[in-house]
Amino acid sequence: MKHCKSDDMIQLRAFAAQDEITIENWPPYPAEFAALDHALRQTGWIAQFRGQPNARIYVAEQSGELIAFTILCLNAQGEAEFRIALRADKIGRGFGRIISDRTLQIGFDELGLQRIHLIVRKNNPRAIELYRQRRFSPCGECQLVVNHKLTDFLKMELLRRDYFRPITQGAHHIGLTVSKLEESANFFVSLLGWKEVRRNEEYPAVYVSDGTMMVTLWTIKEQPSNQFNKNRNVGLHHVAFQVGNENDLNDIHERLITNDIQIEFSPELLGQGPAKHLMCYEPSGIRVEFIWPGR
Ligand SMILES: CC(C)(COP(=O)(O)OP(=O)(O)OC[C@H]1O[C@@H](n2cnc3c(N)ncnc32)[C@H](O)[C@@H]1OP(=O)(O)O)[C@@H](O)C(=O)NCCC(=O)NCCS
Repeated sequence: MKHCKSDDMIQLRAFAAQDEITIENWPPYPAEFAALDHALRQTGWIAQFRGQPNARIYVAEQSGELIAFTILCLNAQGEAEFRIALRADKIGRGFGRIISDRTLQIGFDELGLQRIHLIVRKNNPRAIELYRQRRFSPCGECQLVVNHKLTDFLKMELLRRDYFRPITQGAHHIGLTVSKLEESANFFVSLLGWKEVRRNEEYPAVYVSDGTMMVTLWTIKEQPSNQFNKNRNVGLHHVAFQVGNENDLNDIHERLITNDIQIEFSPELLGQGPAKHLMCYEPSGIRVEFIWPGR
């Protein structure tokens, strides 16, 4: 079970000489990590990296107690190898995530690294999953002799662009509260050529889509409805749909006129252009923009 909900209590600081003894005296690793226990001991990872001018060793403290250490060894221009080890009693409680994130942040933000890479034993699924969730991806395999034993490793890397990549992939749908469900649905389906993809009679609600995105229309629950005021209320200022060319923008404008849809402004340049847009209010009064990016 995970106990670590907040990262407030974890402090990451640079390794100091006296930390080495503390780490060497940590309790042994359980069976899952028995093969890695040597990493904590006298000839382990600290001894390997301590004297290297290009290695940064960090220790994580929780309430003044040392519970983990991480290493970033800058081994090429803008690149570093990453390692992490938690104290045995802190395994499986979410600390790996927090402490790796802090170290990766130092690597990319403070040290300006372009790539952080690592090797992980193929039989260490917990570590592999931790790295995968931090957006590391496999980039090869290798075999190394560790403690006189040939060991299979997976190579993984995290590129700067992937670290900073937005976590979302665009809008999936927009949910709007409407006062005139059928008229609003009709605005999308009849006037704009969208498809009704689902109907929830109970709510009631109608889902419509233009094939690239979905709008879900939800009937208000209380009467009378309040009209949204974009200057006073917090919420949806407007929703904007893109069209492929200027003709389509003009075509929509004509359809709005024919269907008595309230228009705020007709097609006009957006600022200096070349984009053009128009603004209207669909039947429930939601401010809808249509925009052609201009090229
Ligand atoms: C590897 C290590 C840093 C992971 O940190 P941790 O806090 O113990 O990791 P977690 O228990 O949160 O596990 C990470 C993820 O793997 C998942 N996981 C655990 N065991 C797993 C398994 N057998 N198979 C697949 N996923 C597993 C966890 O559920 C978790 O995912 P979630 O957050 O979605 O639940 C830590 O266990 C450690 O220091 N181990 C000893 C030293 C070591 O192995 N260092 C890495 C050397 S490359």
